[in-house]
Amino acid sequence: MPGVKEVLTRDGSKTFYSEEHDETYHSVSGAVEEAFLKYAGASDIGNIAGKGLVRILDVCFGLGYNTAAALDLIWAANPECKVEIVGLENDPEILARTAEVEPAIKSYGLIREAAKDDHAYHDARLAIKIIIGDAHEEIKKLTGKFDLVFHDPFSPKKAPSLWTEEFFREERRLMSSKGVLSTYSCARIVRENLKKAGFSIRDGPRVGRRAPSTIAVPD
Ligand SMILES: C[S@@+](CC[C@H](N)C(=O)[O-])C[C@H]1O[C@@H](n2cnc3c(N)ncnc32)[C@H](O)[C@@H]1O
Repeated sequence: MPGVKEVLTRDGSKTFYSEEHDETYHSVSGAVEEAFLKYAGASDIGNIAGKGLVRILDVCFGLGYNTAAALDLIWAANPECKVEIVGLENDPEILARTAEVEPAIKSYGLIREAAKDDHAYHDARLAIKIIIGDAHEEIKKLTGKFDLVFHDPFSPKKAPSLWTEEFFREERRLMSSKGVLSTYSCARIVRENLKKAGFSIRDGPRVGRRAPSTIAVPD
């Protein structure tokens, strides 16, 4: 049976390697760095937090680093801000592994709580619901509008069906007019499909001398 193996990334944070996909869950250059720079920090999240409510769709939730990093930045900007998170993830085993990692993200304890049995967490300012199922199907059932979409599947080569025009259209349908989608990939096919799905795209942060990520906003 294929499994997962722990990997230490170059910023000192842990991720896992998936034997099934022959890929790591995060960039080996730095898992936490990726979460803060390419996802949580890719939009003007402090400004959005100033409005008092942020809604995030975290597609391919995994260990939840992207959501946790977003919570840190949101509450640094506005400690009173309410946050609603919907995560899509098809593998409950990876959620259980949140207990095995200790990323340098202040809010990570909340992700561990959400990853427990009922895959949800609620308190006065935070609601997290992680939907266990195939993102292709689960996304079609969602309604409402999100301010931020974190698009973080395995690579376009390994999981092409999660990078199609059709899938991006579903994400577009769920975004407010000022919403921001971020993803680590800058592959040509990814950007073309985003444009066909109704997004304008621009380069996201470059970490070191590597290729940029992608930020997409509704046309
Ligand atoms: C690159 S990892 C994402 C890492 C994650 N964002 C984090 O912070 O740990 C991709 C994730 O997508 C999940 N996944 C793969 N195929 C999926 C599908 N069809 N539907 C939902 N989740 C899927 C995997 O189990 C894995 O957790």
